[in-house]
Order: sequence, then structure tokens, then C-alpha cells
Amino acid sequence: MEQRNQELDKIIELLSTTPSEELFALADRVRHDHVGDEVHLRGLIEFSNICRNNCLYCGIRRDNNQVKRYRLTEEEIIETARRAIDMGFKTIVMQSGEDLYFDRKRLSHIIKKIKKDDVAITLSIGERSGGDYKAFRDAGADRFLMRIETTDKDLYHRLNPNMSWQRRYECLMMIKELGYELGSGIMVGLPGQSIESIAQDLLFLKKIGIDMAGIGPFIPHPATPLAHESGGTLDLALRTMAVMRLLMPDINIPATTAMESLHPQGRIKALQAGANVVMPNMTEGEYRQLYELYPGKICVGDTPTHCRSCIALKIQSIGRTIGTGHGSHKRL
Ligand code: 5AD
Ligand code: FES
Repeated sequence: MEQRNQELDKIIELLSTTPSEELFALADRVRHDHVGDEVHLRGLIEFSNICRNNCLYCGIRRDNNQVKRYRLTEEEIIETARRAIDMGFKTIVMQSGEDLYFDRKRLSHIIKKIKKDDVAITLSIGERSGGDYKAFRDAGADRFLMRIETTDKDLYHRLNPNMSWQRRYECLMMIKELGYELGSGIMVGLPGQSIESIAQDLLFLKKIGIDMAGIGPFIPHPATPLAHESGGTLDLALRTMAVMRLLMPDINIPATTAMESLHPQGRIKALQAGANVVMPNMTEGEYRQLYELYPGKICVGDTPTHCRSCIALKIQSIGRTIGTGHGSHKRL
């Protein structure tokens, strides 16, 4: 306990007093020493913006009737994945709202089809039953992303009506138990979230032994109840991410899209402050703008090919290389 408190105090100090430049340089060095200079690309497919939940922060929450809803067909999803694989992606991330149309049978079928190619599949589809998670794993899914969002349970329950923090935690445990590589993470700058709470979040992520950490700023969406909140800053999001790298030197950490939405060089800054993964959006056409979790999302008017080459140029411009393998978490 004593040791835990010391670690907590240390994290709070890093988050609040260490000058950003110093912290970023330290995280960059740790990233270099433990996971090297390769940046792993993951092709993101946002295959449905239909969601049964009503998270106060999220632009695709159930009660937002200003958003046009869509669901890609099975063929469209497989075709999009195929194109991403042809572009050289070694990981496909399938993300959606909590849309139960994609039940055990439908989603397993899609996973199996995509897995005919030599590619890793990451699911980011929210809370399901243990049976569903097992079926998707059996179908070939390799990894799963689900942010805990915050470990402050009161805050969680205020932000996620009808959801249970405990249930989410149990889902993460089931996912891990099934042998998925587990990704989780948080939003930074939520209303009422303190630095100490963020420090607790980081300790939680370390304790459950995540393989990947997605950390991004909260960006208020105008069509949500949190429209008038102030949101997180890029600096605090980067600092949190950098401390995560110090705490877990060998995990995968993406430079998140939300970071780039706050600053045109947000992802580059992140790659130089501990991140080693980027997830370019491979969703096609108008769906890109309909998957609007927060406003100002980058690249909504671009094509997958454009995004692939744009990000490759950016990565090369800072002297880094693009990963050639699946980019799994390697414990050192
Ligand atoms: N701002 C930033 N991130 C958001 N997410 C959802 N809504 C927002 C928002 N308004 C994040 C959540 C979710 C992930 C897919 O997107 O952390 O887990
Ligand atoms: Fe789309 Fe840069 S990644 S324009």
C-alpha cells in the first residue's frame, strides 16, 4: 500500500510538474529503447455508427437524432479490409458503436473471411457476453480495444447512464482471459476529472496488464449534453500518454486521432512523446464524417489511399520507419 501511494505520488508529480519537453523527451527515449523506431499502422474500419448506449460525451450516442445512422454491409466491410490489406496494412481494426445487429454469427463470419489473409484483427465493439467474445476469438480475432474511460466510478456512472463500471471491468477481464491482446485507455479532460484520478487510471491500466493504451483528449461534441464543457488539452493528453510509456515501456501506444483533431501535428507530437502506433482511417466515402464521436475529426474528406500516404510521409519525415510485421505486443 505504502509503495502504491509512493507510485501514485510520483505519477501525480510527473503529470503536474515535470516540464512537458522533459517528459516527452524521456518517454521518447524509453519508446526508442523498448519498442524501437518502427511505427505500426493499423487500418481502421468504422463499420457502424449505431449504438445502444448513451454516453454523455459521445457524438454517436443513442439520443443524438441529428446524426444519420449507417451500417456497412458484410461485403462492404470485407471489401474495405481487402483494400487496406492490399495497401500493406498488417492489422485491421474493426470499430463500431454497440450495434447488436452484428451478432455472434454475423461478426464471426466477417472475421473468418478477413482472416483468410495474413493479417491481425482488432475488435473495438464494446461490451458483449463472454460467449460472444469467445466466438470472435475462435473466429480469429487477435486483439480487442475497449477503453475503461475513467476509473473514477462515480464519474463513469454520471457519464455513462445505464452502464456499469464493474461490468466493463469484467468484460476486460474476460477478453484478457480469452487470450486477446488487450487494449484499453482513457479520455483526458473529462468534466470533474482530477490529475489524481488520471494517475489512478494509469496505475489501473498497468495493474490489469494491458498490451495497448489508447489515450486521447475529451473533445466536447455540440450535439451532446457535454457540448458546453471545456474538454481536454493536447498537452495534458500527451503528458498522460508519456507517463503511460514510462510505466509500461514495451506496450503499443497509438498517437490518437483525437490528438490530431486538436492540433495539425498532434500525432507527430505524440510519436515523439512515447507513441509507436498510428491508426489511419480506412472507412470509405460519406461514412467517414458520419462516424463523428467528437467534432473536428481529421481527414473526413480524404480517401483511404490519401491517408495512408500522408501518414507514411509524416512518419518518415521524423526519421521513423513503418513497421513491416503484425506489430504485436512483445514483452521484454
Ligand atoms: N471526445 C474524445 N474522445 C471520445 N470518445 C468518445 N467520445 C469522445 C469525445 N467526445 C472516445 C472514447 C471511446 C473511443 C472509441 O472514443 O474514449 O472509447
Ligand atoms: Fe489523412 Fe493525413 S492522415 S490527411
